[in-house]
Amino acid sequence: MSTDTLTITDNRTGRTYEIPVEHDTIQAMHLRQIKVNEDDFGMLSYDPGFKNTASTKSTITYIDGDKGILRYRGYPIEQLAENSNYLEVAYLILYGELPTKEQYDEWEHVIVHHTFVHENITQLMKAFRHDAHPMGMFIATLAAMSTYYPEGRNISDSWIRTKQIHRLIAKLPTVAAFSYRHSRGLPYVYPDNDLSYTGNFLSMLDKMTEVKYKPDPVLERALDVLFILHADHEQNCGTATMRVIGSSHTDPYTAMAGAAAALYGPLHGGANEAVLRMLMDIGDVKNVPDFIKGVKNRERLLMGFGHRVYKNYDPRARIIKRIADEVFEVTGKNPLLDIALELERIALEDDFFVKRNLYPNVDFYSGIIYQAMRFPIAMFPVLFAIPRTIGWLAQWVEMLEDSEQKIARPRQIFLGEDERDFVPMADR
Ligand code: CMC
Repeated sequence: MSTDTLTITDNRTGRTYEIPVEHDTIQAMHLRQIKVNEDDFGMLSYDPGFKNTASTKSTITYIDGDKGILRYRGYPIEQLAENSNYLEVAYLILYGELPTKEQYDEWEHVIVHHTFVHENITQLMKAFRHDAHPMGMFIATLAAMSTYYPEGRNISDSWIRTKQIHRLIAKLPTVAAFSYRHSRGLPYVYPDNDLSYTGNFLSMLDKMTEVKYKPDPVLERALDVLFILHADHEQNCGTATMRVIGSSHTDPYTAMAGAAAALYGPLHGGANEAVLRMLMDIGDVKNVPDFIKGVKNRERLLMGFGHRVYKNYDPRARIIKRIADEVFEVTGKNPLLDIALELERIALEDDFFVKRNLYPNVDFYSGIIYQAMRFPIAMFPVLFAIPRTIGWLAQWVEMLEDSEQKIARPRQIFLGEDERDFVPMADR
């Protein structure tokens, strides 16, 4: 008997099955042969929230949640944050290798020359209500972009796919910045292609009457590092959504609008917004013990804590905590930092959090930095979505090129009514 198998005995029938094991995993379809009788549909696995189900094989991002390890294409996140920049990391995530100087120059040139959006898109964005949430504008504009680039539907042509990827990485900071300016009632600022990816983004956010905007180098670098940290995170809710929508062979703009919508929720990328609101509600360090009591009584969650995969300190949170100090040297300290540090101190010593392996995640400190940089809270999920673009797109390409992938279509356990006859309204 092969040792790379799992032997299952069905105690209902006494029958034994040998299921192959590959990569420490069994294929759910191999369970289908387990039947009580010939009419039986066969056994399913039940896994709400996909807590123990691998939906794909992937070579992009590696996480060891117990050890707090995150790597893109094998490179530790700490080394990338220290030595690289967002565009170089984006290339790495998409193509699997760090670019040579020549490859990087070409990549940067292509991205920089796709930053303008069609003027109709600008008009479309101007039609939103004056107080529209920037993430709502971002998601809707992203979906609308599919109507400007209909060739994007040709998802089996790798040249056309690459063209849409360039457009999305280049144009989404512009869309994001327009949504911010809109919410502030300010005129939109067009891209400045002389600046870096994040420098240009800061210019589109902040530029007023000056002829040439000069980004603060510390803030420009801090934002770039934050973008690196958010670039990909394997099969999270937003990325899984990208793959699920993409599996029906829709265009990347529509699929990404869905991924961004998933990211918006407060349990996912909207958590940075929720953390800030929580810290403002707490208001003072002296209120922290009471707040923690409420969390332990299950009245509320400690936002920015806990993670489906990390059962240790999120490595991204550690890096963010460090760059916070550099940002505060320029912006002045965010007074909410003291509340956050006290929450962390108490939570990391408290049995409730220790027993459940609840540690700060990426969202715990990022919002404090964004606020110090004077971003309104509603922009926080947008600041998560911009860099996640490359993760979504790389995972989308991987899915399309994977011959084992099929249209996503989970099963259910039906527990509803059996067949019954329609009752006319008068008789109900
Ligand atoms: N505060 C208080 N208790 C918590 C928290 C929290 N933030 N997170 C988890 N728990 C408890 C939970 O009640 C459960 O306790 P018990 O076993 O006694 O019922 C236990 O810890 C396990 O939690 P879970 O909800 O089963 O874990 P999950 O893997 O389904 O959820 C999570 C992961 C991130 C949704 C959750 O930890 C959470 O809601 N955190 C707050 C929101 C947040 O910060 N989200 C950002 C995640 S990181 C960035 C991203 O994904 O975009």
